[in-house]
Amino acid sequence: MTETPQPKTSEPVPTVELVTELAPGDLDDLIDATDSAISDGGGFGWVRLPAREVLERYWRGVMTMPSRILFVGRMDGVICGTAQLITPQKNNEAQNFAVTMTTVFVAPWARGHGLARMMVEKMEEVARDEGYSAINLDVRESQDVAIKLYESMGYVHFGTHPFYARVDGKVIPGRYYYKVLDPSGLKERPEIDLV
Ligand SMILES: CC(C)(COP(=O)(O)OP(=O)(O)OC[C@H]1O[C@@H](n2cnc3c(N)ncnc32)[C@H](O)[C@@H]1OP(=O)(O)O)[C@@H](O)C(=O)NCCC(=O)NCCS
Repeated sequence: MTETPQPKTSEPVPTVELVTELAPGDLDDLIDATDSAISDGGGFGWVRLPAREVLERYWRGVMTMPSRILFVGRMDGVICGTAQLITPQKNNEAQNFAVTMTTVFVAPWARGHGLARMMVEKMEEVARDEGYSAINLDVRESQDVAIKLYESMGYVHFGTHPFYARVDGKVIPGRYYYKVLDPSGLKERPEIDLV
């Protein structure tokens, strides 16, 4: 008896990019992913799920803010993860060598395929290309996977805030990290245009 050929199942393909414009479908995917991140207990500081219009306003707002650089992770083209870099304000000359990494998340259905690591690598690459020498970040102490990821990528834990966040009436400590991308740039920022 001859075997019926089975359709090949291929592995989903994760990709990461810096986003300057959101296509309408992308905005929907981003909102869906945000929904699942918040429902899963760790998204953007929200504890309760906001209305869809609120999330839409949030993402439209991010796109208009010059101090925010948005990154998305896709699985087979569908947005399922995101992260942002916040650049220092123009007046903040004293800290103009450092960016802050924030709101890193991957929707539960897309986890474990390397997307978060790819997003962090991409953010480091962009930060370096833009002339920044250090990245700061903070994370709830309860986010074990994120902490393991950051520490495996060389982020240095320098302090813990005991009253960092309050979720469902429970106070959660938060960890603060930094990573130096270019030690020489800490002393003098190369003269290139800021984003
Ligand atoms: C943290 C988070 C972004 C990781 O996303 P992800 O795309 O699944 O991560 P990756 O697939 O890139 O995996 C990163 C590392 O974590 C490990 N990992 C992933 N899921 C894991 C799990 N459930 N348990 C243990 N380790 C895990 C991976 O093995 C990988 O390590 P490796 O590269 O050495 O093999 C995701 O779990 C998430 O969104 N969590 C909730 C929000 C959050 O914590 N955000 C960070 C706040 S700043």
